[in-house]
Amino acid sequence: MSKTDRPDLEAAIQRCYSTWGERYYADYYASEDAYPAVHTDIVRKLLQSEGTKSLLDAGCGPASMLRDLDLPGLERYGFDVTPEMIEEARRVLGRQDLSPERIWQGSVLDAEAFAPPGGAPAGGFEAAICFGVLPHIPAEADCDVIAHLRDALAPGGIMAVEARNELFGLFTLNRYSRALFRDRLIREDALAERAETPAERDALAAALSSLEQRFRMDLPPLRGGYADEPGYDEVLSRTHNPFELRSLAEAAGLEEVRTLFYHYHALPPMLETEAPALFRRASLAMEDPTDWRGHVMASAFILVARKPR
Ligand SMILES: C[S@@+](CC[C@H](N)C(=O)[O-])C[C@H]1O[C@@H](n2cnc3c(N)ncnc32)[C@H](O)[C@@H]1O
Repeated sequence: MSKTDRPDLEAAIQRCYSTWGERYYADYYASEDAYPAVHTDIVRKLLQSEGTKSLLDAGCGPASMLRDLDLPGLERYGFDVTPEMIEEARRVLGRQDLSPERIWQGSVLDAEAFAPPGGAPAGGFEAAICFGVLPHIPAEADCDVIAHLRDALAPGGIMAVEARNELFGLFTLNRYSRALFRDRLIREDALAERAETPAERDALAAALSSLEQRFRMDLPPLRGGYADEPGYDEVLSRTHNPFELRSLAEAAGLEEVRTLFYHYHALPPMLETEAPALFRRASLAMEDPTDWRGHVMASAFILVARKPR
């Protein structure tokens, strides 16, 4: 089975998330062990400062963000590819008197999925968010997702798209660092082609092997499924480079493009267990979306951009 071929990919994602409908919010938002939902706070502030009246959440999961974005005068809409997530989102938002047709099934890879069955707000959405979804999108489709979000917006509307920060690998000193150093920074295949003699080739192999020993390749532990479904690390779950994602947004004709960083780590995560309470307190104290350290010390970022008026 291919990890990126569309039918296989979406079937695997649906299976991966099928067991998370009811527990996702409890585990990742409400639990004391979970890192506080600073991203929802960032989005809430953004919506409030814009005075947004309509919001689309593409890949809304169990309405994990939508339920907490119950702002006065804000019309909320969302879709997701996983049926169990939709069921839970409808149930939760039903308690806030939201009609079930505000939540529907669809994939961010389809332009049509961005149209609510009951009709979109006249002129388009004033804001669109997409959190936790981009990791599961093949690289070549990133620009499609950004274009679909742009097209769903009203002129002057804003999008906020979350991604896992690839550059965080500069700080984690683990498997992710290895991939970042060897594949993205050093680009060792190209480097190897420059080696001119057997001695240089041997020296390069020794250097790369020495580099490998700098990283904890057993960390972080691979996340499997709860039952026999594939886990998060067993389906496509990419990281993104904030500079590259910015460029994609600019190429899509968006304006005021910026990156906001969150989920800071006061120390490399493998050291968290040394002083967990201090680690959590200090990490939370660092939560400034515009701090330059976010480029390497934050595990996630939000690409914010505006559709031209
Ligand atoms: C990590 S959860 C995030 C849920 C929610 N957005 C949040 O931030 O709490 C990822 C969600 O993306 C959904 N998803 C993955 N690929 C998708 C796609 N191609 N189209 C729509 N939803 C997708 C999954 O079903 C899952 O509900």
